[in-house]
Amino acid sequence: MIQLYWKNATAEVIGDTHGITQTDLTGLGAALTGAQQTLTEQAAAGKLGYANLCVRRDYRDSAMALVEKHRPGCTDLVVLGIGGSALGNIALQTALNPATYNLMTPAARKGTRLFVLDNVDPALLHDTLALLGRRLATTVFNVISKSGETAETASQFMIVRELLRKRLGSEFAKRIVATTDAKAGTLNQIARQDGYDMLVVPDDVGGRFSVLSHVGLFSAAMCGIDIDALLAGGAAMAERCAAADWSANPACMLAAIKYLMVARKGKPIHVMMPYSNRLVHLADWYRQLWAESLGKAVNRAGEEVFVGPTPVKALGTTDQHSQVQLYREGPNDKLVVFLEVAKHSADVRIPDAFADVPGLAYLGRKRMSKLLAAEKTATEYALAVSQRPSVTIRLPAITAENVGALIYLYEYTTSLMGELLDINAYDQPAVELAKRATFALMGREGFDPLAGEIKPFVKPDAKYLV
Ligand code: PA5
Repeated sequence: MIQLYWKNATAEVIGDTHGITQTDLTGLGAALTGAQQTLTEQAAAGKLGYANLCVRRDYRDSAMALVEKHRPGCTDLVVLGIGGSALGNIALQTALNPATYNLMTPAARKGTRLFVLDNVDPALLHDTLALLGRRLATTVFNVISKSGETAETASQFMIVRELLRKRLGSEFAKRIVATTDAKAGTLNQIARQDGYDMLVVPDDVGGRFSVLSHVGLFSAAMCGIDIDALLAGGAAMAERCAAADWSANPACMLAAIKYLMVARKGKPIHVMMPYSNRLVHLADWYRQLWAESLGKAVNRAGEEVFVGPTPVKALGTTDQHSQVQLYREGPNDKLVVFLEVAKHSADVRIPDAFADVPGLAYLGRKRMSKLLAAEKTATEYALAVSQRPSVTIRLPAITAENVGALIYLYEYTTSLMGELLDINAYDQPAVELAKRATFALMGREGFDPLAGEIKPFVKPDAKYLV
């Protein structure tokens, strides 16, 4: 079971200027109880869309039906999406399959190769399509877009569709699975016209909360990930997060610590630092979830508040040799959340090669997992003696159950933070403006007035060119 260990964020360890006191927690009690009650009521009334995903058999079954149809004979799966339509897919794949997955033989892999193209970098798209060249007829392209009009995803989709039409003729539609709005939208319309297999982004689930819906389930299952275990882990965590006693509820405790760090302890930067390469893309997923949900200009009464902790990704041990200098001696404005894994999917013993070299002998015959664990504890200690708070989320192992649980834990914690900050955690008005500005800059019909507004900002001014 995933556990949250928060002693090193307390005043007991790092003093009450930077650490959380019992008085801080007691002071937050009523607000936290209120936030928990609101979310419990929303979930019970079916108004907290993502909260029901783990128990929705219909989504699981329809994703699996398409997996069973497409997986036989499929060599490669390419996801075209961005933001919430891609980051969860990448996180699941890197957490639950080996880093060398795409390089393994088909017999050694559990499913198709996976490429997630989440940018409009022309070189990335070109290189990937060139690699797939001879395998296009056995590749499935899963285009994921809730709105169906996101420029990045739409442009990639248009290029791929054209290529497939040229190369496969009337068979082209069989190579595309569209995941989009169930009833309306541009991609929905095209998918119906062309006759693609379709999956849905649920109406009431925002992109960044959608990884446990069709959005993440299809690509995960195509790559042999046990989506039943993933959903079971999410469901088990949902039960733990429903506990009314917030001191026994991991999401409530995590939200309480994070909120107090921002509001009372001057720590607006929240680092997620997994000690596992497999979890590093979960930190990318967290950055989006946290930034788009909590970075808001106005509260629910419409007053300007400009809130939102800044999410940062780091990797242990790699960033011990890069970021930790700053975390220990720079401004004391960060909370570090470590992700610690008790049992890694593999372990390696260091040979006793230099028993007579004093600087290296201590490493001989030790397991690499022991070194990694020691380095994490060492960093935790080094931060604590500099009065820098940290929290550890412990995973017994990186299994589908535990990854599902971790995802749900963070989604629910985000909702609690939204309540505590009194903001709408489910919209992203700032992202929408940039999306619309892109339409205007690319000449989309109806966006001329916005193009006019943008003009003064983009006109080059030689005065500032060096
Ligand atoms: O969380 C969100 O809603 C966004 O990050 C979206 O996922 C992202 O902008 C992509 O949008 P769409 O799925 O509509 O193409």
